[in-house]
Amino acid sequence: MNSFELNKIAMALLLTVLVLMGLNGLTDAIFEEDHGPSAFPIEVEVAEATTVEEAVVEVEKPALAELLALATVEKGAKVFKKCKICHSSDNGGKNMIGPNLWNIVGRAKGTMDGYSYSDAMKATGGDWTYEDLDAFLAKPDEFMAKTKMKFAGLKKAGDRAAVITLLRSFSDAPLDIPAVVTPEVEAPDAEIQEEVAEEVPAE
Ligand code: HEC
Repeated sequence: MNSFELNKIAMALLLTVLVLMGLNGLTDAIFEEDHGPSAFPIEVEVAEATTVEEAVVEVEKPALAELLALATVEKGAKVFKKCKICHSSDNGGKNMIGPNLWNIVGRAKGTMDGYSYSDAMKATGGDWTYEDLDAFLAKPDEFMAKTKMKFAGLKKAGDRAAVITLLRSFSDAPLDIPAVVTPEVEAPDAEIQEEVAEEVPAE
């Protein structure tokens, strides 16, 4: 066997290894679980968390701002299927059973032209802030007794954040999302502190 042939065999072996590694990476990618907002465990020991983000987020139920920061318009569109029976969302769209939702985030409550709101909605006042939308969509008739929106509500905070993210996109000038206030983490262990040092580049 000459060295040329040996080289070929070595190359073939290397290629096989590379292909196997590639496949491995691919299956990992395919089977990666959905770590969307709704998948956050509510009680997890800080010590078990493997990354800084997990250590911060898993300490308590994520706040609305955190969920909004993670939410996607795509997921919102899935949730919005439940709303479409009653609401249009395009600019100038028709009022249906419910009012058109163009520019709804930040809009004064109950003010879409040509829609006849319940007295409850008319009496509420104020703008549709992120917090109010979240509370209304969780349980419409609890947030606003006698609203005529006959909808049971979205139980999952992640679903609400997603649909609110989509509502926010129904605008030419979407309102800023609220800033995430990082909660204090109690005495993270040494390992996590090291990660913080690695993940946050010194400036
Ligand atoms: C069965 C019909 C129905 C469904 C389903 C429904 N809505 Fe409504 N919605 C209404 C009606 C009716 C009103 C007007 C309420 C009032 O006047 O009290 C309303 C009002 C609203 C408002 C306030 C609008 C404004 O101009 O102040 C928002 C925001 C809203 N809906 C969002 C949603 C979202 C998001 C969903 C889906 C998660 C949804 N709705 C599902 C019927 C519905």
